[in-house]
Formats: sequence, structure tokens, C-alpha cells
Amino acid sequence: MYKIAIIAGDGTGPEVIREAVKVLKAVETSDLKFNLTELDYNGTRYLKTGVTLTDEELEGLKSFDAILLGAIGHVDVTPGILERDILLKTRFGLDQYINLRPVKLYPNVYTPIKNKTDADIDYVVVRENTGGLYTGSGRFENKGTKDETATQEMIYTRKQVERCLRYAFQTVMKRHQQVPWKGFSDDEKNKGFIGKLTLCGKTNVLTYVFDLWQRVFDELSHEFPQVMLDYVHVDAACIYMVESPEQFDVIVTNNMFGDIITDLAAVTQGGMGVASGGNINPEGVSMFEPIGGTAPSFTGLNQINPMAAIGAVHMMLDHLGHTDVASKVEAAKKEVIQRMRSMQAGKMGFSTSELGDHVVHSLKRGINV
Ligand code: IPM
Ligand code: MN
Repeated sequence: MYKIAIIAGDGTGPEVIREAVKVLKAVETSDLKFNLTELDYNGTRYLKTGVTLTDEELEGLKSFDAILLGAIGHVDVTPGILERDILLKTRFGLDQYINLRPVKLYPNVYTPIKNKTDADIDYVVVRENTGGLYTGSGRFENKGTKDETATQEMIYTRKQVERCLRYAFQTVMKRHQQVPWKGFSDDEKNKGFIGKLTLCGKTNVLTYVFDLWQRVFDELSHEFPQVMLDYVHVDAACIYMVESPEQFDVIVTNNMFGDIITDLAAVTQGGMGVASGGNINPEGVSMFEPIGGTAPSFTGLNQINPMAAIGAVHMMLDHLGHTDVASKVEAAKKEVIQRMRSMQAGKMGFSTSELGDHVVHSLKRGINV
């Protein structure tokens, strides 16, 4: 029995979470059960009570096995408040130091990248999730004067860098337990490589922070001789993600770069409707979410794409160790995606709730075979 916290959130969050929960319920068996607790940590509650997420509530989240999050953000709340006091507070408070973002284009899904198909876009971004510019460290000097200075510090400890890089190396190993990465030549396979890890940084300008990342990367690599090492500057990474995404297997990067490149990655895999992410604490409580946001203009219309939220469910199942069930959910999602007209809200050819039903249906058919 798993204890799952459901934070549906604001906007279209509750609509996509409803479908995700349908799917979660559908995979329950006598051996696999979920005890769901709905929590109203969202903008609506904040507007009513002034409370975002209290320290006690954050503490309470530690008693769950995982958290499923819809979307946080409210049109009537100044941008930044809910993000900082609910989303980032949870990521930091639960020490979810990895933001895991699979980037996978499914067959039949539109990508704005010409001549690239599902065979080309299939990689994972491991984004550091609790450090760097997100630490919030900084200051104003001479505020309001013409001599003003604003400082925002990119802070990384070796421990933070090392645990993130280690997770990334392990991700490569896990991904290719059975079959080596398809991007390798025979020669590379003969050398014993099974996967590739690309460090994405900016060593030419961020000469302190990425010097540390690069050194720890090189040090750790000795523990993972089957992982081929690669490095790209973040600006170049943006070019390659569009021009030759097939060159990527696993990318690891810092918090800020990861935030930016994963949105670029999302659009190449079909957009916000299908991109899911995990905020992972490998030793603690992790939180899974569709990365698309609250989509205020679609709220309540039953037109938003629930596939990213369903993707969050299979990532969660995988994380909890139920890889087989996770694969089944992913397969069902993939099957339904092929029948959709578009991944965009309002143009899908189905309503939000119909898509959830179809995934459940597809799953039941698969399970019964
Ligand atoms: C994300 C989001 C958040 C981030 C915002 C909402 C604070 O963009 O999950 O990528 O910057 O991490
Ligand atoms: Mn982002």
C-alpha cells in the first residue's frame, strides 16, 4: 500500500490530475494499492487564507511515498509567490535534488523539427534541482539609485554537484542495462560503452562553478567505465537539441540551464501537453508533475491534454520500483497518443476525460492479454 499525496493545484491542474488518478486506480491489484490524500496547497486556498504551504504541511509531506502534482499558479496571485512558497519550497524542503525530464517523441506526434522522427528524439535530461541560482542568494546595493548593483549568486557545493552527477551516471547505466544506446557505432560498442553522458555547462565563462562540475564529472567517470563522456556548452546544446537531437542519450546540467533547455526539449517532443517530470530525492519523497502549468484559458473546458499528467504517473510507478506496470501505462499512453489529432489543448480530437478513459481502456486490454 502506497501513500500518495495528490496536490492537484490550480487552473487545469485538477482536470489533468483527475485523469492521472483514473489511470493510477486502473493499475491497482491486490498487491499494488494506493491510498490517495488530496491536499489543497494551491492558489485558491492562498487567496482565501493567505497560507501557501506551512512548515508543518511540508513536514507532513515527508510521510508519503510520493507526491503527484498538477500545476501551481493563479491568475489573481502575483507571479512568483506560489512558485516560491509551494513548488520550490517543496523541492528544497524535501531535498528533491534531481529534476528528471525524459524527452521522448512518440510516433505520430508533431515536432516542429523538420525531418526528425521518434527515432531521433529520445533522451533524458537530469537537471540539478536544489542549488545554483535557485538558492535565492543575492542582494541589492544602492537600491533605487543610478549606482545600483543587483547580485544573484550561482552557488554549488561539491556534495550537491557530486550527488547530481552520480545520479546521472546511474541513469545512463539503468537506461542501458539490456541494450546499449542505439547511437553508438560498432567500434564504440566494442570498446564496451553502453551509454553516453553529456555534461551541459559553460566552462568558458562560468569558470568557478563549471570548473567544479567538470572536475567532479571526470573523477566520477572512473566508477562508470561503460559510460562514454561528452561535454557541450549550453548555447551549443540548444543548437544540437534542434539540429541533431539523436546525438543525446543522457544530459546532465545545473538548475538554471536545466530549466531552460528542458522547455526547449519539451517543444521538440510535442509540447507541454506531453512533457512530464520528476522531482526526485532518491533517498526520500519524490514528486511527479506534468510540466505544462495551469493553462488558465483552458480551465474547466475539458480540453486540456492529460498525457503529461499520465506520464507523471508512469514515472512515479517506475520510481516506486514497479517498472512493469510503469511500462504498461506508458504503452497505453503511447497507443492513445497515436490516435489523437494533436497534442494541443482544444485540438486533440478528444476531450480530457475521454483521453483518460481511453488510456484506462487500452491498459485493461493490455493487462488482460
Ligand atoms: C519548472 C518551472 C519552475 C522552475 C518555476 C515555476 C519556478 O519553470 O519546473 O521548470 O523554474 O523550476
Ligand atoms: Mn521551467
